[in-house]
Amino acid sequence: MFDFEFYNPTRIVFGRGKENIIGGELQKAGHRKVLFVYGRDSIKKTGLYVRVRQSLEGAGVGFVELGGVVSNPVLSHARQGIELGKQEQVDAVLAVGGGSVLDEAKAIAVGIITDDDIWQYFTGREVTAALPVFTILTLAATGSEMNGNSVVTNEETKQKYNISSPYVYPRLSILNPELTFTVPPDYTAYGAIDAIAHVIEAYFTKKKGPHLQDLLVEAIIRTIMMTHRTITKEPENYEARAEFMWAATLALNGLTPAGVGVYTFPNHMIEHALSALYNIPHGAGLSIVIPAWMKWYHERKPEQFERFAQKIFKKNKGEEGIDALERWFACINAPTKLQDVDIPATDINIIAKNAEDLSILWGIGDVYTKKTISEILRLAT
Ligand code: NZQ
Ligand code: ZN
Repeated sequence: MFDFEFYNPTRIVFGRGKENIIGGELQKAGHRKVLFVYGRDSIKKTGLYVRVRQSLEGAGVGFVELGGVVSNPVLSHARQGIELGKQEQVDAVLAVGGGSVLDEAKAIAVGIITDDDIWQYFTGREVTAALPVFTILTLAATGSEMNGNSVVTNEETKQKYNISSPYVYPRLSILNPELTFTVPPDYTAYGAIDAIAHVIEAYFTKKKGPHLQDLLVEAIIRTIMMTHRTITKEPENYEARAEFMWAATLALNGLTPAGVGVYTFPNHMIEHALSALYNIPHGAGLSIVIPAWMKWYHERKPEQFERFAQKIFKKNKGEEGIDALERWFACINAPTKLQDVDIPATDINIIAKNAEDLSILWGIGDVYTKKTISEILRLAT
């Protein structure tokens, strides 16, 4: 076990109907006016929008709204939110939606209390303060509800970059599995792939890890796969949605890599280039990158790939585990090749260049160069 620090200040309130406490919680925390951030139309269709308004009004918490956050949130819209929040002098940010809404809300929370341009914080400058962030999650996938990350796309420069800071951990995240009943099959599948991606990055790239951490990762992957099967048949199965949701939260809240030492996030680095250039859903990009990266990488960690094959798919060889995972992605209707999302192989150089810039920023540019990223992407054609 390597030395580690584990820090997670987010309070989770989990269960049916818990969104109705949001007004009271904000009021108790001393907030008088919040920026209420949401996506396009899902929260209006489900009635959640009205319930949140009622809870805020009932508690006497003022609010100003910023709707229209898009999937793969964009910098220009975050800048609008920052302007609005400054003008209206809000004292907290409330995000109601999926990972995109939460991530943009975190960026806004940083931007409101500084005159510096927010993009600087995505390209390396350290965050030193943010308004408090509160969330009500409607889609299980990213772990944003219990972590300090915010991923935003700069549409002008085609860069999908992130902030990672203790200041943007949500103060409170409300997780009601019922709110995820309406997530459509494609985004439920992408959520499953994202949660699995979050735990396998460290599982495969660490040097040598504690047994407990490997078991935690395998438990999360197996829970996601098992509950996904149930959700496919019964989208309103509370127990399945609940376990799926909690597993996705635990997948990226700092728990699974504790004590594993140095690890990297190469699949995410390459995927962010795909989303930045083609605006494809994050989970769809991951289901293309992961099998290719595994084929390129597995000989460096043969024992861990054998373990994965055995524990997850009851197969003996590492390659069989990779094939089984790729088949599972296809079986849940996720793309596994670039051409499945109409990206031509002739674009590989452009994608690899975009990814290489991020790999340098993430400190893995020694291994992940334009050349090696192109090799990986060619395995996805
Ligand atoms: O915009 P609305 O109308 O709300 O529709 C959304 C959106 O179209 C819809 N949706 C959300 N909840 C729903 C629902 N539809 C029906 N019923 C519900 N209950 O689903 C669509 C996708 O939502 P989005 O928030 O984009 O999905 P997700 O949660 O997968 O978030 C993806 C974003 O998070 C980033 C990704 O890169 C991507 O930008 N990530 C954030 C991370 C983090 N903060 O730690 C880590 C991840 O690796 C990832 O990079
Ligand atoms: Zn992810």
